[in-house]
Amino acid sequence: MAPVKDTAEASSDLRSHLRAATMAAHDLLDAAMQAASGWQTRDDYARFLALQHAARAPLEDWLAAHAPADLHPPRQTALIAQDLAALGHPVPPPAAAFALAPGARGDMLGAAWVLAGSALGNRAIARQVQRIGGGDWPATFLDHGAMLAFWQGLRERIEHRADASEAQGAARAAAAVFAHFLAVAEHAPPVPAPAGAAL
Ligand code: HEM
Repeated sequence: MAPVKDTAEASSDLRSHLRAATMAAHDLLDAAMQAASGWQTRDDYARFLALQHAARAPLEDWLAAHAPADLHPPRQTALIAQDLAALGHPVPPPAAAFALAPGARGDMLGAAWVLAGSALGNRAIARQVQRIGGGDWPATFLDHGAMLAFWQGLRERIEHRADASEAQGAARAAAAVFAHFLAVAEHAPPVPAPAGAAL
């Protein structure tokens, strides 16, 4: 895994630190997910949900096993399975286990931040899915009110200055979560060309 970029000032708040440390990883993941699936057609969207399910299942298990209860983001895999079923697609097998050795509380905070913060991007994607699918595509995962509520609670805890070791542990775990997602997106089967496309 690439080393965590540590450009944030030690004096900045934990959220700014995490965003700065993982900005490049987020951009890479966004591009990889758009390349591996996107959500321009119903089948693309089903592939996007399948990737999300495969990646999130081991992360949810990891947090449930290692994090204190107040750092368990609401589980979303059941919602993704529900959306996949509504689209007529099966639930894929989970990705390999998330292998980060559990450390201090800061680590759990970093991992929970990635899952919860992704609700911000999901909210934007939900608006696109609503428009492209003409309101017919299921979006219980993308529109998950409980995750947004968890996110608001988490914000209060990370929008303050953290000590250096907590900030470092949180950034390390957040980077590992992004790397886990990226591996899933990069190993997804290629998106088939639309019927009739020139070879
Ligand atoms: C699939 C394509 C994705 C797109 C288009 C996308 C888009 C976005 C956008 C627009 C924001 C900023 C929202 C705002 O500031 O109001 C954001 C933030 C974020 N996203 Fe994504 N995202 C994607 C995938 C992901 C994934 C898969 C994850 C997690 C594994 C993730 C984790 C985050 C995090 C942690 C934040 C920052 C939260 C904060 O501001 O503290 N994103 N994303």
